[in-house]
Amino acid sequence: MYTFEAADNLDIKEVFDLYSRYSNQELPNIYGKFSFGREIFPRASGAYLYTRDGKEIFDFTGGLGVANMGHNHPRIAKVRKAFLERGYTEIHKNYLNRFLAALSANLAEILPGNLNYSFFCNSGAEAVEGALKIAYKYHGAIRNFVLRSDRSFHGKTLGAGSLSYGDNFVAGNARFSFQKIPGVLTYNFNDPDSVRALVEEVNGSVYAIFVEPFSCSTLTESGERFLKEVRKLCDEREILLVFDEIYSGFAKCGPNFYMEKYGVIPDIVCLSKSLGGGKSSISAYVSTDEVYRTAYGTVAGALMHSTTYNSFGEECATALEAINILAEERLSERALNLEKLLRDRLGALVQKYPSQLKEWRGAGTHFGVIFQPKFEFLQPLLQFVPITFVQDPNFLRKVIVTAAIEEYYDRAQTICAFTSNQDVILNFSPPPVADPDEVDRRLQKFGEVLETGVGICAANFLKKNFTR
Ligand SMILES: Cc1ncc(COP(=O)(O)O)c(C=O)c1O
Repeated sequence: MYTFEAADNLDIKEVFDLYSRYSNQELPNIYGKFSFGREIFPRASGAYLYTRDGKEIFDFTGGLGVANMGHNHPRIAKVRKAFLERGYTEIHKNYLNRFLAALSANLAEILPGNLNYSFFCNSGAEAVEGALKIAYKYHGAIRNFVLRSDRSFHGKTLGAGSLSYGDNFVAGNARFSFQKIPGVLTYNFNDPDSVRALVEEVNGSVYAIFVEPFSCSTLTESGERFLKEVRKLCDEREILLVFDEIYSGFAKCGPNFYMEKYGVIPDIVCLSKSLGGGKSSISAYVSTDEVYRTAYGTVAGALMHSTTYNSFGEECATALEAINILAEERLSERALNLEKLLRDRLGALVQKYPSQLKEWRGAGTHFGVIFQPKFEFLQPLLQFVPITFVQDPNFLRKVIVTAAIEEYYDRAQTICAFTSNQDVILNFSPPPVADPDEVDRRLQKFGEVLETGVGICAANFLKKNFTR
């Protein structure tokens, strides 16, 4: 048996080997193609990760929305230490949890309108499941349709996955569709007329409309007109409006919650990621008083959505502190300050390298660039690439982006992530607590990658990984 110490001391080859034998055979093959995938990162602090041999790496992934307060924020660490040192428990459901009580009050305090009733779970997808259930229950199971956009991403469990548009490409297995929950209809993103048309088509029997006020996987917003018209339609037809702010919340995209930008308030909002202060796996769906009372406000309703692990004291205490940090360290103001910088610098790069960069997009601290779709020069190298990779229709776009990420990491000790919902986007997504001068320096370094040329990076990447 491995002990904690033995696990902590594993080298990367041993980690690959154990993954291959006991967890996931393909992940070592995928990660092994990247310099950062062959590292161990035992430590992180603020906007930085540290390799085992002490290299400092700037985290332009922002921990995929989890690290808005930075890694290992001292206040978060202090709360978690105190929790352990005081011998607290809070894992029982036999008595009420004071940290849950205080956390729900904090959420009601920072959310607009009367979004006052919080249910806690452990992942974003589960919060979406919870929102689906409460919305369905609100209408007493009389309505059968739920709307999602053609750009949506709400998670990968069966219910949330039914609301996520498209199916994830699985290399080697082409497309694969899991079963869906019934009654899911798709509107065109940011198009209120298409929402209205669907509501008419099913004669008003829609129980909920899911909206991402800012879609973090495509870096596009649901605009003011869309949000206001959909809110109006929901009021007219008594449909529940659900916002997914799992990624965009907690100042990631500027305001504390993106819904504040146009002042449109939903009936239910889903939260996660930085709700946990970078340490806690916690999520929530928060509903208005009316939705809560109607759906679950009875003895029978009190246990309609709970799980063993939901609302553990340690998770709630961490989230409670995260919300205090959000307010006291003015994360929104800092995100909006970084937004200006990211806009200016990425705009300038797109202007300077139009043959490589097609466009930039983003809000707050979540930005990205899309590369020009020019791949002819890579064709000769494709003969060396296993067919399972090439089957992915986005393979060449992904090669360009991942090769740029690899080059950037090697050149500038900066780690980035990419998303591939519709477009393949290379993300620049610093935590809102990052130092603006540092973000500026790192973006200038990305100019060096473009100076080399992403085509050359991609050709090198293919040669290195597939021709040996
Ligand atoms: C907008 C959005 N909704 C839902 C989810 C699902 O969250 P989780 O991965 O915690 O299930 C994500 C995850 O990235 C997300 O970005």
